[in-house]
Amino acid sequence: MKLLILSGSAFPDSHTHSVARLIESLVEQPEHEVTHIDLREMDIPIFGQGKTEDIESLKRHAENADAIIIGTPNYHTSFSGLLKNALDHLSIDEFEMKPVGLFCNSGGMRNSDPLTQLRMVMRGVHAMVLPLQVCTCDEDFEKTGDGYRLVNDALRERLSVMIDGLVRQSHSETISI
Ligand SMILES: Cc1cc2nc3c(=O)[nH]c(=O)nc-3n(C[C@H](O)[C@H](O)[C@H](O)COP(=O)(O)O)c2cc1C
Repeated sequence: MKLLILSGSAFPDSHTHSVARLIESLVEQPEHEVTHIDLREMDIPIFGQGKTEDIESLKRHAENADAIIIGTPNYHTSFSGLLKNALDHLSIDEFEMKPVGLFCNSGGMRNSDPLTQLRMVMRGVHAMVLPLQVCTCDEDFEKTGDGYRLVNDALRERLSVMIDGLVRQSHSETISI
């Protein structure tokens, strides 16, 4: 499986980014191939305001991926604008019937609202989103010299289950509707 991870926090060393790195480490490699794109490092203008090589690169990675995991911080009970802008550059062309896993991090209580909204966007691009999703909050992490570390074992296990689900889905037959 070629897995693409998109993380959509506006800040470096974010909780979202650390979960993306954890996912990377949980995926068996080289059996599977993982690409992690931290969207804040990409030159992706507001949709309609021009084209860049990074936009083309994002599209290429999304199109080539067998499965995609999308992570976002909770901003005002929704997902980040950075992520929405990146998704505006993508379409059914990249997502049609593609298995997708979602996770989010909230500063306050764990909250699934950002992912509920992200699911609506994913429906718009015909993605096949796993029912299982992972919602963390800042309290689930400890700060280390190397950024954040998810220390909630139940949530780490849940991430593994999500990865297994994506591997299974990416191997199953899909139909185009
Ligand atoms: C613009 C903005 C809006 C936010 N809104 C919420 C919110 O509605 N609920 C919440 O729990 N945390 C909210 N937060 C806090 C973030 O979710 C928190 O800082 C979290 O750690 C961000 O994850 P990250 O480190 O992956 O970027 C907000 C933060 C920002 C910058």
